[in-house]
This record gives sequence, structure tokens and C-alpha cells, in this order.
Amino acid sequence: MIWKILKFIFTLPILGLIAVLASSCTQLGLNYASLEIDNKPKATPALIADSLNNWTAQEAPQLKAALETNVFGPVPLGISSRIISHKVVDDRYLGGRGVLEEYLIELGAPGETGVQFRLALATPKTLTGPFPLVIGQTFCDNRGVFQHAGLSPPMRGWDCGMSENRTLLGAAFMFIFGEYITKAPMEDYLERGIAYANFFGSEVAPDTAEAAQNMLDTFPAGADGRRPTGTVAAWAAGYFAALDLLEADPRIDPSRTAVFGHSRHGKSALVAGAWDTRIEAVISHQSGTGGASLSKRKTGESVKQITRTYPHWFDPAYATYAKHPDDLPVDQHALIALNAPRRVLLGNGRRDVWSDPNGGYRAAEGASPAWQLYGKTGLDQSGMLNLNPEGDIAFHIRPGGHGIVRADVDAFLAFLEVSFQQNSVQNGFAP
Ligand code: GCU
Repeated sequence: MIWKILKFIFTLPILGLIAVLASSCTQLGLNYASLEIDNKPKATPALIADSLNNWTAQEAPQLKAALETNVFGPVPLGISSRIISHKVVDDRYLGGRGVLEEYLIELGAPGETGVQFRLALATPKTLTGPFPLVIGQTFCDNRGVFQHAGLSPPMRGWDCGMSENRTLLGAAFMFIFGEYITKAPMEDYLERGIAYANFFGSEVAPDTAEAAQNMLDTFPAGADGRRPTGTVAAWAAGYFAALDLLEADPRIDPSRTAVFGHSRHGKSALVAGAWDTRIEAVISHQSGTGGASLSKRKTGESVKQITRTYPHWFDPAYATYAKHPDDLPVDQHALIALNAPRRVLLGNGRRDVWSDPNGGYRAAEGASPAWQLYGKTGLDQSGMLNLNPEGDIAFHIRPGGHGIVRADVDAFLAFLEVSFQQNSVQNGFAP
């Protein structure tokens, strides 16, 4: 008996250590995501609308309400915004390929506490518009994205040191997370006739729990009078304001706009696409928990872990499901589905099990019925490895972990080529 008790006492810490090591391996990118697509739990609750009318009039609004109540909090669509200042930063950007500009934008109605952030825009110089547009949101300021020291330093948040004047920390980040972790492939975009805009998420809403809470309490309210209660929804306001500004710009083709976000900003990009139908295509890369991957029956980051480490990203209600995520009345396939009939690319890394690529694939399968109601297909590929950039939902996975590498950029470009051709008011991809 004593022997059994001793054995039990010794086994417990060993089991604990194994659990900690297994979870660290996942976080450190040492495990491989499962590519199994049969015999896996399906996304629940399944979408039920049997006609487009039932979807648009009933199910889609109900899913939006359920996602706001249980996950993201109010999504502040319709905040008014205005340009405070504008300047041309470089008329011969990238050796004359483009023109680089910077806007200072203020969110909020006159009289409200406004939020200012900077939006940088590069437009092709050697081609004629109107150009299709990608709006990116990053965890770094615009200098790193456009590799141009003439853009302004961050107004809030950290200086990630990845501009053309790279710090050691910035170089280390790029080594670990890939060349394109913050830098956008600007030559590729400009040569294809695509305009590219970007803002630093932390300027729109800070990315630390305490600062975020203070700011969200006075964040400008959406058209329905509600303020966001989590930063993923607040960050989406940056995309909305950029669209307000740039869709009215005669150089931009408003029928061909895409949003891009990686990881936490990939969550926000999906929210933006779901709520704002002006967006024709969404690139959500490694968005993981609270993004494209399911909250229920998952591997990788749990609802408990994400709401403990990043409570400010979501409405506090999401944390109440930490112990019982299966009780959530809605799951993330609904977020993808609300983007239908527009296009979605879900980017993944095989070793990025933390973001649960398999859960993202199952979410894409669960979202597909929404596209079918529009006479489209949704996910249209034979397994996780076989990216079909023409699919309404395109699922991309490459070797390696969390970050943005050339293989990802190639997938983004292939997806955009299809998205922008389909919506083109002209003939061909490049104007
Ligand atoms: C953490 C977090 C993820 C998030 C990621 C990121 O890893 O757990 O949910 O997507 O940060 O934004 O880089």
C-alpha cells in the first residue's frame, strides 16, 4: 500500500513535467500539425440555413450576434474618421516603382475622444490605376512594413526595430519569424499593379491588457453606439477607416480590396471581412485560436490559455468558456462563414501547432455551406497540403513554424491574383 502511495506521489510530478514539455514543444514549434482530415471532429454547431434568404435574413445576423456576445464583443463598424494630415514621403519609392504616402487619421465623431493612427500607402508609379488594394495590419510600425525610414515612428506601442535601420532585436525577429514577418513584399505588389496600405495595430488600440482596458473604455463607438470590449474588434476599426479613405480615392478600385493580417491581426482581418462587405478578400495568416481555428475539440492554444495571456483581445465573456469551451454556442467556422461569398485565404505552418492548422481546416469545412448557398463551393481542395488558390476558401500550409516566409508570400500573391481578376472592372490582373 505504502509503495503504491509513493509511486503515485512520484508519478504526479513526472506526468506534470511531461505535460509542460509537450505544451512547450507545441509553443516552440517542435511538433507537426496533423494532416488527417477524415475521422476528425466536425465544427459545431453546423450551419443550418437551407436557402440564401434564411442565411442573410436569419442565420448570419444570429451568428454575428453570438460571436459578439461570446467571443469578440461589439465590432465597431461605422465609426466616423477624418484625415488630420497627409504627406508624400517618397515620390520615387523603391527605385521609382511607386509613390509612398502617409496619412494621419483620426477615428471618432467630433466631440468624442478620438484615436489617431498612421496609415501608409504605396501606389504603383509606372502603371495606371485604378489599382486593386491590400490593407495590412501589423504588430510593427509602418517603417518596418515599407522598409522606409522616412515614415513616422510609432505613436504608441513598441519600436520593433525592423525598418531599414534594423536593430539587433529586429534582425533576430526576422531570423526567427521569417523575412516577411513585418516587411511586406512591396516589389511584388507594385510590379503587379497592386496598391498597398498598412497601419500598426497598437496605434489603433494598445496591445497590453491594462492600457487596452483604459483605452477601450473611451474608444469611439460604432454606428450603433456600442464600443468595442476587446482589441481584436477594435483593431478591425483600422481596416474600416482605411477603407473609408481609400475606397473614395480615384486611384483605387473599390471593387478589388483585400485585407491582410498575421496571427493576432489575422483574427482581426477575419472579423473585418465578416462585418464589412466592402472587403472582397481576406488573407488571414496563422490566426489560430479566436481566429480561423475552432475553439472546441482543438489542439494547440486553448481558450483558457489565450484568455489568460491576452484577456484584452476578447470580450470578457470568452474567458468564461475557458473550462468548458464545448459550451460555446458558436464556433470559429461561423466567423469564416460570415465572409461568404467573398474570398478567404487561411495561411498555416506545419510546425505551428499552437495555432492549430487542423482545427482551421475543419473550420473551413464547416464554413463551406455558407458559400454553397451563394452557388459557390467554399473549401475546394483535396486535403490540407493541396492549396487551391482558386477556391473560395483557400487553405495553405507550408513546412516550418510561426512567421511569414517566401512560400507564404507566393500563396498570398496567387490568391490575390485570382481575387482581383475575378472582381476586375478591367481586363487582366495588372491595370
Ligand atoms: C501568441 C498567441 C496567439 C497569437 C500570436 C501572435 O502566440 O498565443 O494566439 O496569434 O501570439 O499574434 O503572434
